[in-house]
Amino acid sequence: MFEEGALLKRERGAENVYDYTLGNPDVEPPSQVLSALNRVVAEGRANMHGYMPNAGFPAVRAAVAGLLRRETGLDFLADDVFMTVGSAGACNVILKSILDPGDEVIVLMPCFSEYPFYVSNHSGTLVQVETDASFLPDVQRIAAAITPRTRAIILNTPNNPTGRVYPEQVLLELNALLTRLDHPVLVISDEPYKHLVFDGGRQSEVAALIENTVVCNSWSKSQALPGERIGYLALSPRLAERPALRAACTFANRILGFINAPAIWQLAELEALDAKIDVGGYQAKRDLLCNALAAIGYEVTKPEGTFYVFLKTPILDDVAFVRSLTAEGVLGVPGVGFGRAGYLRLSLTVPREMIVKSIPGFEAAFRKCGARIEST
Ligand SMILES: Cc1ncc(COP(=O)(O)O)c(C=O)c1O
Repeated sequence: MFEEGALLKRERGAENVYDYTLGNPDVEPPSQVLSALNRVVAEGRANMHGYMPNAGFPAVRAAVAGLLRRETGLDFLADDVFMTVGSAGACNVILKSILDPGDEVIVLMPCFSEYPFYVSNHSGTLVQVETDASFLPDVQRIAAAITPRTRAIILNTPNNPTGRVYPEQVLLELNALLTRLDHPVLVISDEPYKHLVFDGGRQSEVAALIENTVVCNSWSKSQALPGERIGYLALSPRLAERPALRAACTFANRILGFINAPAIWQLAELEALDAKIDVGGYQAKRDLLCNALAAIGYEVTKPEGTFYVFLKTPILDDVAFVRSLTAEGVLGVPGVGFGRAGYLRLSLTVPREMIVKSIPGFEAAFRKCGARIEST
């Protein structure tokens, strides 16, 4: 996709290619975050560029535990927070800590395309469970997929790629299922989009609703910092396995090659934990794009959160449809990349003017495949 996109940009000129493929925030980090970074650098405190305890600076871990206490109402402890290299680092640290070869990890389809690799990185066996017709977790199907080897379920809400925000009720049902099991199954709650919810909504706190939760989070999306690789892993105070996991996570954070999370960014976040980008910009672009696509005739469900639109393709073959969009200069990611054919993911991290200029391309591809369907 990326090579095709680069080729197209060379052929047609970058201004004539409308690239919706990359989930890379197009807004600047909040000024509070940049000021904190500048202060940390200017201050130049002794030893700030050195190694540190594997789990991160104690003061930063304490501050993150405080943040989680405020957000979830649970008594998170500094000892159960590990500063990580983004949410991706946090997911890998917990999987490394819990998996024996062949242990099963359930992922809910469609899913973030890197989860299967994270599971195989640590010799786990991936178990794919379909979500329901509206992309919410289907607790019956999850129950049917659980075996004595099931060790964890990865949950991601707000969800990449679907944009769904899982409601409290479904999380409670999942908790009821897990508490009935005779062996512990962890919920790895990957939450980098937690604060990217539209229309004044809020993501229910997974840790407050599901007992066996491990939180993976980062400031990649909520503060538009994905290149800085700063996030955290936190063990819920309700997790019975906590003492053993503490030691395992501390060690895994070091031996996976990260050694520790970026020192300067830990110190900057100490002063800017709560800062957030304004989601209003993404919401306005969501409305602009979704309304225009619906007017053309696409079947559109507006995302409730994240910055992705998961669009139903007018023909089931999403790869073929993405090809015909590409011919019109519009680039998106086929749903099969996330395990769900018949869809296409569009990222809203693009300029508003680009959305406006791309609409005729969406219309031409839609009409062409309509003409193809009629002639067959
Ligand atoms: C669902 C999901 N999890 C994890 C990540 C990785 O986040 P980070 O950059 O914080 O490691 C992404 C990045 O796009 C994502 O979409």
